[in-house]
Amino acid sequence: MTLAAADALPGEFAFTDADFEALARLARSEFGLSLAVSKKPLVYSRLARRLRARGLASFRDYMALLDRDGEAAERLELVSALTTNVTSFFREKHHFETLRSALVPELSGQKRVRIWSAGCSSGQEAFSIAMTLLDALPPGTRDTRILATDIDPAILRKARLGRYPAEDCETVPAEFRARWLRPVPGEAEMVETNPELSAMISFAELNLICDWPFNGPFDAIFCRNVAIYFDQETQQRLWDRFSAKLRAGGFLFIGHSERLSGPALADFTTAGVTTYRKRATPGPSRPT
Ligand SMILES: C[S@@+](CC[C@H](N)C(=O)[O-])C[C@H]1O[C@@H](n2cnc3c(N)ncnc32)[C@H](O)[C@@H]1O
Repeated sequence: MTLAAADALPGEFAFTDADFEALARLARSEFGLSLAVSKKPLVYSRLARRLRARGLASFRDYMALLDRDGEAAERLELVSALTTNVTSFFREKHHFETLRSALVPELSGQKRVRIWSAGCSSGQEAFSIAMTLLDALPPGTRDTRILATDIDPAILRKARLGRYPAEDCETVPAEFRARWLRPVPGEAEMVETNPELSAMISFAELNLICDWPFNGPFDAIFCRNVAIYFDQETQQRLWDRFSAKLRAGGFLFIGHSERLSGPALADFTTAGVTTYRKRATPGPSRPT
């Protein structure tokens, strides 16, 4: 998502410091998003198109609109405007190498394999996990499921479709491309994922700062380039909740500019770049 120059018209909409503070409070309480005051110009430029689309004259009007019942979709537009959906197949590929070399050998004896792609965007992360597992797990491992969640219903519709521009698939290893990606009939330069992959994945809408209506435990959680939008307190609560959903020995993969911090640190050992492994028992600094 890039900022169009036309979105950054200073002065087109009134945006006071009080409006910004009200918006920042809402973004934090409903979505965990951290908006420092230094981001005010960025917030202006990202939301100006929403005000135009809704025919509003000021950010105060926009806040009033967000407050109304029946504006849940606009609140999601707000998150969408303030975060990005940027993703790619086999992004941060060392995580998929760890999945193959460290996790898969342990999973081979297991009947049930559960992986969570949290903040999956348009699905490339979940499909990359599915390809890695299908390629590496012995054929008998039948009950293998990937839960892929995101807050944004529009991006989830794209993920469920599993169709991508061919040029976006260049990071998929050639052998995997030949096995699991095929041209979309009648749509030049588009490819789609094979149903064998989609059958392993459940895409679902989920706001990570709300309740999680499932139990786990997961063998691995990928939550990459999502927590970066959250303030430190929300991040630490998230790491804690991920720890509770992982089995002992399970892996947590996070984004390249994210770091585990807070009480959950005692639950994990470092297992590679932005890769953490849940201990069998918490480390000494964790109160029991
Ligand atoms: C930059 S993408 C990351 C995609 C993928 N994990 C990756 O690393 O390539 C960030 C995603 O986080 C989602 N997101 C932002 N806030 C969220 C929240 N509170 N709960 C769930 N998803 C959220 C956005 O909708 C977006 O699709």
